[in-house]
Amino acid sequence: MAAPTPEFEPGTDQYHSLVDHALMTTRGVRRRLDFERDVDDQTILDCIDVAEQAPTGGNNGSRRWIVIRDQDTKDRMAELYLSAGVDWVIQTADRLKGTGHQNEALMQGAKHLGENISRAPALVIPTVIGRHDGSGRPGLFDSVIQSAWSFMVALRARGLGTVWTTMYLNEADAVAELLDLPDDVTQICLFPVAYTVGTDFKATSRRYPARDITYFDRYGRTLAEGRSEPRSIVDGPGQLVEIDIKARPEIVWEFVSDVNLSAEFSEEFQGGEWDDPDGDSGVGSTFTGHNKHPQVGEWSTTSHVTVWDPPREFAWSVADPEAPAAQWRFTVEKVPGGSRLRYHVRLGPGRSGLTPAIEAMPDKEARIVAGRQREHQQNMQRVIEGIKEKAETQAAVERSDPSGFPR
Ligand SMILES: Cc1cc2nc3c(=O)[nH]c(=O)nc-3n(C[C@H](O)[C@H](O)[C@H](O)COP(=O)(O)O)c2cc1C
Repeated sequence: MAAPTPEFEPGTDQYHSLVDHALMTTRGVRRRLDFERDVDDQTILDCIDVAEQAPTGGNNGSRRWIVIRDQDTKDRMAELYLSAGVDWVIQTADRLKGTGHQNEALMQGAKHLGENISRAPALVIPTVIGRHDGSGRPGLFDSVIQSAWSFMVALRARGLGTVWTTMYLNEADAVAELLDLPDDVTQICLFPVAYTVGTDFKATSRRYPARDITYFDRYGRTLAEGRSEPRSIVDGPGQLVEIDIKARPEIVWEFVSDVNLSAEFSEEFQGGEWDDPDGDSGVGSTFTGHNKHPQVGEWSTTSHVTVWDPPREFAWSVADPEAPAAQWRFTVEKVPGGSRLRYHVRLGPGRSGLTPAIEAMPDKEARIVAGRQREHQQNMQRVIEGIKEKAETQAAVERSDPSGFPR
């Protein structure tokens, strides 16, 4: 299949908005799959031709696609899909119904799919010739995953939809037997393919914006603003460290919100106290922090709370709130098994201890900034490791306390 000639040139706003729209609105579709409308073979083959343009290691041509159209085979696949764990999904969906739980809608969709998958006009399984070597390197899968995603986007472009499902792989051996797959062929996922009911899918909110998870030159180094060459304080350079903690967010928050605690772990921060110890901590309240650095000596700063959202976020600006010397932020998220703690600092844009050094040696600004990021990284890492230890100890105590509130 030849690449179509687009109406708009790459690089134009029209072209990029179309491509971005397709990439950002290719959703997992379950309840809006139209099982009444057939899909012809050629449409599926066209989508596979598009998908085959995806990169492949060594141009090895190892992807193979199984398209299941025969109703008896689809019925058998539906049985395997259920026994692979979807009966658990159905029970969970029933339990969550009407509770407002964050996964309620997802589980209702998964249940609907589990109960109706045999009605999909086609079930498509991308496979790759080979077995993963278990080396820990991506290996095998890095020549097929991107192609499977392209397949989803190509469906979307034609008004069709699907959802990436892997739970059925619990029955991968039975599926391989049913479909005559050779032993050395690896299944990637199962796509139920159908036209969608309506095409108005929307971008979803993902957990992090790019600037929070994109690190420049060293792990954890963020940029809040644009890019200057060489790197300077106007780029909004920052440092981020993060750690997963086996304790619920409320426990982690107890430690995160203690403005003195970091002194136990940081080599620079010596201690801190709320300026009004009887007042409510919250946005606008202030605390004083005391610091020590071999090159700078000792100094104290006033910090202004900018976000106070227990147990999720605590942020503060140092010195002048209009032009802070630095902006600090703890976020605590619930993740499976506990919490994820992220600790972030952005240097500047106001005057700070770095300013005199940068003014004295403007040509060394990039090195001064990078050096400060490294110092922060080391101290912040100690702090989050310290909080992890305390929070996990506290969680263990609570778990072992039989009179305690059930966790
Ligand atoms: C590796 C992987 C495995 C998945 N397995 C299943 C599955 O077995 N069943 C299912 O209904 N959805 C499955 N999904 C779909 C996700 O639940 C879905 O992508 C997620 O809910 C986010 O929705 P979105 O893709 O519309 O943003 C899987 C997705 C991925 C990437």
